[in-house]
Amino acid sequence: MTPDTPRPGFSTRAIHAGQDADPATGATVVPIYATSTYTQEAPGKHKGYEYSRSGNPTRAALETCLAALEEGERGLAFASGLAATTAVLSTLKPGDEVAAASDLYGGTYRLLERVFKPWGLVVRYTDDPSPAGFARVVTPATKLAWIETPTNPLLQILDIAAITAIAHKAGALLAVDNTFASPYLQQPLKLGADLVVHSTTKYLGGHSDVVGGAVIGAGELLKPIAFYQNAAGGVPGPFDAYLTLRGLKTLAVRMDRHCANARRLAAWLTEQPQVERVFYPGLPSHPGHELAMRQMRDFGGMISMRMMGGGEAARRFLPRTRLFSLAESLGGVESLVCHPATMTHASIPAELRQARGVDDGLIRLSVGIEDADDLQEDLRQALASCG
Ligand SMILES: Cc1ncc(COP(=O)(O)O)c(C=O)c1O
Repeated sequence: MTPDTPRPGFSTRAIHAGQDADPATGATVVPIYATSTYTQEAPGKHKGYEYSRSGNPTRAALETCLAALEEGERGLAFASGLAATTAVLSTLKPGDEVAAASDLYGGTYRLLERVFKPWGLVVRYTDDPSPAGFARVVTPATKLAWIETPTNPLLQILDIAAITAIAHKAGALLAVDNTFASPYLQQPLKLGADLVVHSTTKYLGGHSDVVGGAVIGAGELLKPIAFYQNAAGGVPGPFDAYLTLRGLKTLAVRMDRHCANARRLAAWLTEQPQVERVFYPGLPSHPGHELAMRQMRDFGGMISMRMMGGGEAARRFLPRTRLFSLAESLGGVESLVCHPATMTHASIPAELRQARGVDDGLIRLSVGIEDADDLQEDLRQALASCG
């Protein structure tokens, strides 16, 4: 693209970025290059690919498309979201500090606490996710601030621009796990963040049939992460890259439907006597609603709710949904329900988890793109069993 060519719109990029017709055959859809190696004409004389851990054309297409969607210079694909997170953390040294908001995916917490802490990383968490709360856990040794927004599972909204300013003042980078929003709803790099991380397993893949991850950012910042990608080798295979790329093409239309369905269910849930509190940034009563309106296009497809009857009511509700499958993960076309305390966030010690609001009465919904009437009826009949 020359500087005076306008940037194509989001869906155009999702369908075309990195996806020119195949140079070898003209195939319109990027082929699955199922090869581990590439024949060279002479030693070192090749067409840009030598070995598929280092590079594969299907993965390259995915990486180009991911960068285009987040409006970053470069994207790197990994075998899972946690492999992507590990690659970012690998750029740090023992003794470096990470400042993180305490409401975050349980697997990220486990990685920080049980892999990187013993290795020498110092991690400081803030229960107060406001910029002021962050400022209290940033020190001169902080090299990286790590946030999710909306957070998993409490759907808190964090101020990306303000936290970037705090991180940069301390000489640290800000990495945003943008899994819950997707680049269609929120582009952290445009708000100042340095790195975006995704579990592409979720909305980007979109069909609950592939596990993957990604890191996107400026070329210079991604150099050590790209080195790690090849050196440590946690890359997706070409079939996984293809599935993710195929999912990306429909991201915008899927997200619009996820958001519309979730908006309607969240409002309805606030009126149900069995529900004590609904966590959804699209509700005007949500403390992060104004901020979400500023930094997001829409409010996403994730809802959490706290049951009036606590853990007992949650246990009655969870096996009774029929369309909402009781399962971990999120972001697929089908609706899922999960119990963070015993499922996605079970790796956080119970006392700490409860103190942070992830108690036994909390239920998380990943609202799919089925018909909203059917989803509402499913929740109605399951709630009816809770008295
Ligand atoms: C917000 C968030 N980040 C990262 C991950 C980890 O991704 P993966 O399961 O692809 O390793 C998850 C998984 O649930 C997640 O919800």
